[in-house]
Amino acid sequence: MHTLSKYEIDTPALVIDLDKMDRNIRKMADFFEKHSSNLRPHTKTHKCPILAHKQLQAGARGITCAKLGEAEVMALAGIRDILIANQIVGAQKTARLANLARHCDVMVAVESTDNVAELSSAAGSAGSTIRVLIEVDVGMHRCGVKSAEEALSLAQIILSSPGLEFEGIMGYEGHAVMIPDFEDRQRACIDSMQVLISTKEILEKNGIEVKIVSAGGTGTYNIAGTYPGITEIQGGSYILMDAHYAGVLQDFECALTILTTIISRPNKETAILDAGMKAMTFEFGMPELVGLPGANLSFLSEEHGHVYIEDVDPKAGQKIEVIPSHCCTTINLHDIYYAVRGDRVEGVWPIAARGKFV
Ligand SMILES: Cc1ncc(COP(=O)(O)O)c(C=O)c1O
Repeated sequence: MHTLSKYEIDTPALVIDLDKMDRNIRKMADFFEKHSSNLRPHTKTHKCPILAHKQLQAGARGITCAKLGEAEVMALAGIRDILIANQIVGAQKTARLANLARHCDVMVAVESTDNVAELSSAAGSAGSTIRVLIEVDVGMHRCGVKSAEEALSLAQIILSSPGLEFEGIMGYEGHAVMIPDFEDRQRACIDSMQVLISTKEILEKNGIEVKIVSAGGTGTYNIAGTYPGITEIQGGSYILMDAHYAGVLQDFECALTILTTIISRPNKETAILDAGMKAMTFEFGMPELVGLPGANLSFLSEEHGHVYIEDVDPKAGQKIEVIPSHCCTTINLHDIYYAVRGDRVEGVWPIAARGKFV
């Protein structure tokens, strides 16, 4: 039987190097086998239930999602322990969440009494139980309660709210995960973990059990993941990585590329790829070309990538691989992954939760 070679894939296409990805999954799993905290990988990176199952098989405790729509896709794929690390607000979404809680052990972040009230009422109507974590702002200044006192009064309200189960707290140190210097990153992460753990201590002093303390990303997995009292880490990008994160952290390999084709050579210094900003994002800088020494992407239009060339002379029709600068947003533009081992295609996997931002 003829199996497809990587270079027979039509382009633009998202390609996973399975050997590299497997090593990333293994390396992160090995880390958590040696430490008391657990991994709850953030699946907003890959948005693919097959990959989530691989992470769970390697030992992850559960998964993290950013959106209710993502959690619904993951639950449909048979995953039970799901944290939506985000606020689910409003009658429509809380009703959907309460229904989802009848089919999996979903957990959600909360920060306000109004939201707690609507979640409790939705759970009551659906006859389900929703697990909740209080989100604490640990310095990123996105969502979360601003003080331990606020967390304490919210926890007391949750404990007396029917249909809700208080599980603990979470705090995401997103301002720290990509600080390039390790010691600066460590300092910023530890400051955040101190905020989170002091909140846990105040809850416990008031007789409230805090089972889960969830934090961390790829850039801080080994800092937050070894901080006493942190029970789980929400790393996402480590599984596939990207050019931007690889500049910050060398522990994991870039396993994701966009396979493209040169469609034009308008002049000696320029090659045009068949992939532009509708196939790859560039908010973290330009994606990086593989195997074209001295060449780089200078500009992306919607469906064209402009490559500046110095010493090489690639021909129209030649396939070129590109490492995304931001894996999470690039993946969200694609419907499928080509899963490749060596240069043989081993699988074609739907990115089932792409675009599920509602
Ligand atoms: C709530 C939350 N947890 C964890 C992460 C970690 O992701 P990564 O591992 O890609 O840094 C993110 C990334 O945006 C996030 O928003």
